[in-house]
Amino acid sequence: MRVLGIETSCDETGVALYDSEKGLLGHKLYSQAAKHAEYGGVVPELASRDHIQKTLPLIKELLKETNSTLKEVTGLAYTAGPGLSGALLVGAGIGRSLGWALGVPTIGIHHMEGHLLAPLLEEDVPEFPFIALLISGGHSLLVQVAGIGKYEILGDTLDDAVGEAFDKVGKLLGLGYPGGAALEKLAATGDPKAYHFPRPMTDRPGLDFSFSGIKTHVATTWRQSDQTETTRANVARAFQDAVVETLAIKCKRAIQETNLNRLVIAGGVSANKALRTRLDQMAHKLQSKVYYPRHEFCGDNGAMIAYVGYQRLKAGQKDNLEFRAQPRWSMAELSVPK
Ligand code: KG4
Ligand code: ZN
Repeated sequence: MRVLGIETSCDETGVALYDSEKGLLGHKLYSQAAKHAEYGGVVPELASRDHIQKTLPLIKELLKETNSTLKEVTGLAYTAGPGLSGALLVGAGIGRSLGWALGVPTIGIHHMEGHLLAPLLEEDVPEFPFIALLISGGHSLLVQVAGIGKYEILGDTLDDAVGEAFDKVGKLLGLGYPGGAALEKLAATGDPKAYHFPRPMTDRPGLDFSFSGIKTHVATTWRQSDQTETTRANVARAFQDAVVETLAIKCKRAIQETNLNRLVIAGGVSANKALRTRLDQMAHKLQSKVYYPRHEFCGDNGAMIAYVGYQRLKAGQKDNLEFRAQPRWSMAELSVPK
């Protein structure tokens, strides 16, 4: 089976080919980030229009680079949600109609299931069951994963997602959009002792998160400061330390409560090196192991969608001829393939 995956849920157009025998044949990614940067965030209408222009040319490039043809595609997978509705509609429209034209089974994939299973594209694959921390621009979830489709949500954010908090703080500190990676770079130069921000919701039981409080703390501290370059770096450092420590505390709790010693970290924020170092250290002490996707598959990409599509199509799942776009869609609603 050879599955073409299409991802267009937000501001990245991603396409990939996954082959049941050979694994991932190739992938292409086009980021619209620079287009949205001047507006300080994603402009949904611009995102949809750009996906329309980029998706088919990217598929053509992918086929060329992988020396393959559309005729060899035996399954189609596209991101059906959650995400921006206009952006999703582009991938859904193209994916579903291409699947119909080729006469191959087609399926709409949950974007967060894509992130969740992205580490399974690596050589060192975590065995089921495991715990997953999914941290992206729109979600912060702790999930107990018993198998494909068997997801129990252990913790969720009550307000901002982790990536969203990074982006808002980045914007506040004048780092542009999206701010996550730039903030990490700046934080590396900051003094860890200059400020201390709270670790929200760690003083009470439970695995839920809240990040809007730290963001407010940063805003107040920054506005009342001398706003020098040194202070900017120190505030970035204190913010990142607070987020990293909060996530480490919750992951430790999840490992201890579930007795599972494998932890998967995925989603855009999983690219953060300070977070990786801290989580590896925490897990090591608990004789546990952390699994990450390779750097290019931390953020949105087509490979994760092609992979999940392959897993579900292989199990005989497929959609009817309607195309699906679900901007809101809980992971808990996903089915278990037979
Ligand atoms: O998974 P993703 O590409 O898109 C969504 O599904 O949302 O995640 C994007 C998020 C953005 O908020 C971005 O700022 C954040 O991931 N991010 C980072 C880093 N790289 C990307 N956050 C912290 N540190 C990073 N190195
Ligand atoms: Zn994502």
